[in-house]
Amino acid sequence: MTAAVYVVSIDPQASTVWWANRIDDLPFDFSQEHETPENLKALETLKDQGAKVHVVANQKGGVGKTTATLNLGAVAAHVLAGADTVMHVFIDTPGSLQDENLLLEALKYADDVIVPMPPEGLAFDPTARTIEMVIKPSGLPYKVVINNWDPRDGTADLEDTKAYIEAQGWPRTKTVIRRYKVHTRASVEGKVVTQYAKNRVAMEAREDFFSLALELGYGGRS
Ligand SMILES: Nc1ncnc2c1ncn2[C@@H]1O[C@H](COP(=O)(O)OP(=O)(O)OP(=O)(O)O)[C@@H](O)[C@H]1O
Ligand SMILES: [Mg+2]
Repeated sequence: MTAAVYVVSIDPQASTVWWANRIDDLPFDFSQEHETPENLKALETLKDQGAKVHVVANQKGGVGKTTATLNLGAVAAHVLAGADTVMHVFIDTPGSLQDENLLLEALKYADDVIVPMPPEGLAFDPTARTIEMVIKPSGLPYKVVINNWDPRDGTADLEDTKAYIEAQGWPRTKTVIRRYKVHTRASVEGKVVTQYAKNRVAMEAREDFFSLALELGYGGRS
């Protein structure tokens, strides 16, 4: 059966493939294409069949692109289990300026862009560069997602980040992905959110990705 979700990584760092290879029961199709970006052309056929392509991008490293890609892919696959065509494609992209050509290649096939950003001042300028120099010129719709907020740190950084995003005029998801140790450990353990243990904390952690997927409209064909 065709999986409802296809995840592609074009990050030469290949942490997505490292993580995906550790998952026993991958809930989506996956491929690593940084050496063969021309393969992205195959996405045109999927798009003709109704698939939506979401590029996850921020040229700042370590903001949660891979975490968001794999977990949104897992949640969409979970919600759409039983679909017989690919309905969503998620592309994980490099967290560096050097590989901008790869990001630009992915944007050619995108329907929209998801921009993860942590609630910290150091991320503001690099995120602004990606949005202003790369995403906006593409003309694609995009949304910033605040990721990795630790509620134990209080709300000051979160509020500053929201205010900054608003002042830039960037669209932002209402859902904020909180920081949870289970997410950090998931890559080592070879898990995605839909495979977390059913304890309270893990359920809270997974809830954020379900809310985000719902907010982004991955529950069905839009
Ligand atoms: N919400 C979160 N809660 C806990 N840990 C997180 C969260 N988001 C990301 N992390 C951790 O932060 C680190 C960086 O995340 P990730 O690898 O997803 O970022 P990235 O943007 O893909 O990085 P790169 O630019 O290097 O590809 C990882 O160790 C990841 O587990
Ligand atoms: Mg990554």
